[in-house]
Amino acid sequence: MKTNSQEIIKFYDYLPETANFQDEVINGLNLNPRFVAPKFFYDEKGSKLFDEICMAPEYYVTRTETKILENNLDEISTYIKDGCLLIEPGSGSSQKVRTLLNASEPHAYLPMDISADYLRCVAEELAQEYPWLEVHAVCVDYTAPIHIPELPHQPYRVAFFPGSSIGNFEPDEAVQFLSNIANLVKNGGGLLIGVDLKKDSQILNNAYNDSEGSNAAFNLNLLDRANSELGANFNLDTFTHKAFYNGDKGRIEMHLISDIDQQVRISDQRFEFKRGQGIHTENSYKYTIEEFQSLARKAGFTPLKCWTDPQSLFSVHYFEIA
Ligand code: AVI
Repeated sequence: MKTNSQEIIKFYDYLPETANFQDEVINGLNLNPRFVAPKFFYDEKGSKLFDEICMAPEYYVTRTETKILENNLDEISTYIKDGCLLIEPGSGSSQKVRTLLNASEPHAYLPMDISADYLRCVAEELAQEYPWLEVHAVCVDYTAPIHIPELPHQPYRVAFFPGSSIGNFEPDEAVQFLSNIANLVKNGGGLLIGVDLKKDSQILNNAYNDSEGSNAAFNLNLLDRANSELGANFNLDTFTHKAFYNGDKGRIEMHLISDIDQQVRISDQRFEFKRGQGIHTENSYKYTIEEFQSLARKAGFTPLKCWTDPQSLFSVHYFEIA
């Protein structure tokens, strides 16, 4: 479905019915171990809680990536060619793209996000700030094959995928996602992508267990969302956020652990939770530079450049489709 608002942006709603949320939660709770995909974190409240995480002192990811972009902006902006179409899957607050827009002149910006109201609001604000830029906001689940609107002007395309969101895919899914991006940007197109690096596990554990509790609130919001949208009866006071680095798998894992034996109802289904039993809600994979380059090569990308920070916490790569 396409919705054209009379406002300053074009808005396209390609999101399937929210029934997917119910099916996926119920299917996920019937798995052993239980798993619900992290894309369901991002309702409007979840998107705001994620913005809070990004400001937490322990969550080095956002500020380190921003610094890398700022410190290397002259060079990075040479890859965002004038008149290009800049595509950002999972655009969220569209904060980091502003750094690029201040130094380059794409013809159009295409933010994609799963949270419709938040996307519309963020895209409108951005269009006001950059009146020379066409903004086409696409509400879509970018973890599924990506569909973008037919645009009259089809110039050179660059995808921007910051924040290490690539780490939230399983490695084989990441290759599939990058192949979808490769098909979208086509020959000559590029990908500017932020990837969190492997590092000391204490730094990682602190980042996902911040002292203000933003990660915990973000994780628990999934249950709140199930209560309000699916009529579930999760008692949030009886579940605890748990996040830790799994060195064997090279990933942070997030779980919601039941503090007591209990039964939870969703629609006509009941789920037993034993004390200590949980729902696995997210993986966040960390890569070395070489590991990530070889993953991107499998999707058809050629590495052209990689920038990091002095402590080697984070990496920003530019890839091209030859
Ligand atoms: C969006 N994504 C890259 C975040 C991450 O670090 O994996 C999501 C997140 N989960 C907990 N804190 C942040």
